[in-house]
Amino acid sequence: MSDPVAPDPTPSDPAAPEPAASEPITSTAIQQALAERFGEELTVNEELPGLAVLARIAGHRSHRRFQSRPIDPDLLQLLCACALSAPSKSDLQQADIVIVRETAIRQTIVDTIPEMPWIMDAPVFLVFVGNGAQLPMMSKRRDKPFPNDHLDAFFNAAVDGAIVMTTFIQAATAVGLGICPISSVRDYPRIIAKALNLPPRTVPIAGLCVGWPEQPGEITPRLSLSTTVIENRYGERDLIGEIEAYDRRRAALRPYRRQRRVERWGEASFYGWSQDKARQYAEPTRTDFGAFVREQGFRLD
Ligand SMILES: Cc1cc2nc3c(=O)[nH]c(=O)nc-3n(C[C@H](O)[C@H](O)[C@H](O)COP(=O)(O)O)c2cc1C
Repeated sequence: MSDPVAPDPTPSDPAAPEPAASEPITSTAIQQALAERFGEELTVNEELPGLAVLARIAGHRSHRRFQSRPIDPDLLQLLCACALSAPSKSDLQQADIVIVRETAIRQTIVDTIPEMPWIMDAPVFLVFVGNGAQLPMMSKRRDKPFPNDHLDAFFNAAVDGAIVMTTFIQAATAVGLGICPISSVRDYPRIIAKALNLPPRTVPIAGLCVGWPEQPGEITPRLSLSTTVIENRYGERDLIGEIEAYDRRRAALRPYRRQRRVERWGEASFYGWSQDKARQYAEPTRTDFGAFVREQGFRLD
């Protein structure tokens, strides 16, 4: 698979539970989640409005185990509507959501990505699609030239698709659902395109497993805020040192339970995030994705 093997696809650390719905959401809960995530104590004003929303965002975790309980179709439609209320580049509205209801289509996707059984187990599986078809169509219909058929046209559709997926995730999480994005739908994009009958000038951005979580899940630590929040402009910094510090902080909190491709790289005495990502991307992955995107009718110059 080309998307990260999560440190453990079935996390079950009881030490990091999501706050129960009945638990009062306090600034402390947010601080704790963010301390675990970034390794630093943030100031959170207790009087802030929207603390419950912040707590949910701060406590994000992907879920790969779901209850068999279905998702009401009306709820799913509501979440899609909320997701598609997201901002859209130039109001172009270049994102679609495919609800994969047919078992045969879902099975095709699972057969393509057998190492991710959670795609079949999730009560709902969606595919977020960047759709750049309407714009050239409207230009033609309104008898206008379309001199903007270049990389930006693809990028705009991809960004809109990603924003809609993110907004869906926020909406789904707000009602207590769990999610896991699946970019592995891009490992074999032609199979996915055929299964979903993707029209020209559309590309799958990512799939999304959605369901009622079976376990609370765990917070995954992220790079420190000093690494990823930049004041004004980039300057000199010790990125290697920062990554190594993150490797150590993360390994102390959530060590990888398995090393990737031991048969190729051997057993590392210390196995951190940067080692895992370097091993992951030592394998060729999606090398023909650009060709697929061009076949779909986008120009990438
Ligand atoms: C665009 C995108 C694609 C992803 N693709 C996959 C995937 O194919 N399979 C999977 O199990 N997880 C996938 N994930 C989930 C990541 O592995 C997960 O977000 C990451 O390990 C951090 O964990 P967290 O979400 O619990 O913080 C994806 C996440 C994103 C944002």
